[in-house]
Amino acid sequence: MAAAITHDADLSGLSTFKLPARARELVELTAPDQLAALPASELPLLVLGGGSNTIFLDDWPGRILLNRLTGLQIQRLDEEHSLVHAGAGESWHRLVMNCIARGLHGLENLAMIPGSVGAAPIQNIGAYGVELSDVLDSVRAWDWQQSRTVRLSAADCRLSYRDSRFKSTDRDRFLILSISLRLSHCFAPNTGYDSLADALAKRHLERPNPRQLAATVMRLRRHRLPDPARLANAGSFFKNPVLPAETASALLDDFPRLPHWPMPDGQVKLAAGWMIERLGFRGYRIGDAGVYNNHALVLVNHGQATADQLLELIEHIQAAVGDEYDVELEPEPMLIGRKLMSQ
Ligand code: EPU
Repeated sequence: MAAAITHDADLSGLSTFKLPARARELVELTAPDQLAALPASELPLLVLGGGSNTIFLDDWPGRILLNRLTGLQIQRLDEEHSLVHAGAGESWHRLVMNCIARGLHGLENLAMIPGSVGAAPIQNIGAYGVELSDVLDSVRAWDWQQSRTVRLSAADCRLSYRDSRFKSTDRDRFLILSISLRLSHCFAPNTGYDSLADALAKRHLERPNPRQLAATVMRLRRHRLPDPARLANAGSFFKNPVLPAETASALLDDFPRLPHWPMPDGQVKLAAGWMIERLGFRGYRIGDAGVYNNHALVLVNHGQATADQLLELIEHIQAAVGDEYDVELEPEPMLIGRKLMSQ
């Protein structure tokens, strides 16, 4: 069946931040072979999954491909591992819970991350000490440059902290069709992240089973992060800045309580939420664009926020953090439309 096409489509319900915006053309893709059969178009193209990491600052003058490709297959590799192949349009959280139910491990800490499976490699999703890069085997994608399907190994995807080639150098080149994860039949919980370890200890679950671990992660997320169905948001709004060890160490001399994590490459990641909260931003708002009450790294839309209000808020926070800590904050979600002053 050909892909359904809507003209002058309303996008506000397709992005969890819910700014008002429209697209010239919206194409709902439910099978890979619909790609080759799409009517040719010179319009700019954008792929959208669950919309939890894409914010429309303006109307989109081109075509949007809504990635709704489904499917789940499990391939046993050996006694210890299986490959899970999941369609890009599947819900990420449903995939996590499905894998736990089948005794496939490695995704427990990534429970309840909003969005679709196809978005996971784009920004190398991560939470509570685990990142997609820990389990990703490969990605199947449609390559617009070569007009064919390609397989990219995890290394080919060039994943780093909340980044990949899909988000940077090859932003418009690939449409992710499915991803393959290498999961383990043995459960080896990763409980090193401070707030997760504390939450487990409080519940006397120092050695949790997979369901207990995922449930604890979900409890933490519910407590700290707003449910996009109730309060529009796009998760963490800024990346945690990563600085060379010497710069970080000088900053930590001035702010010894600033939470930080060493990175594998020797640099140091700093908690932007702490920096923003310390400047008094929790609950701050410009019109309906605001900083979440329970977590300063999350920006929210209280209902009728406009792109101008959001941009003013972003730039205000960036300027305040720059003045106080001499640190540049980079937005985490993809902001579509006009450029930020700082970009
Ligand atoms: N903090 C504050 N005040 C705040 C917010 C945080 O002091 O208002 C402190 C916390 O107490 C903690 C530290 O900052 O000591 C880190 O906070 P948290 O554990 O909530 O994590 P985060 O660094 O703010 C990152 C990810 C989240 C992920 C959590 C847990 C990024 C940009 N965000 O947030 O991912 O869930 O760690 O692993 O790396 C997302 O990417 O959208 C996302 C939600």
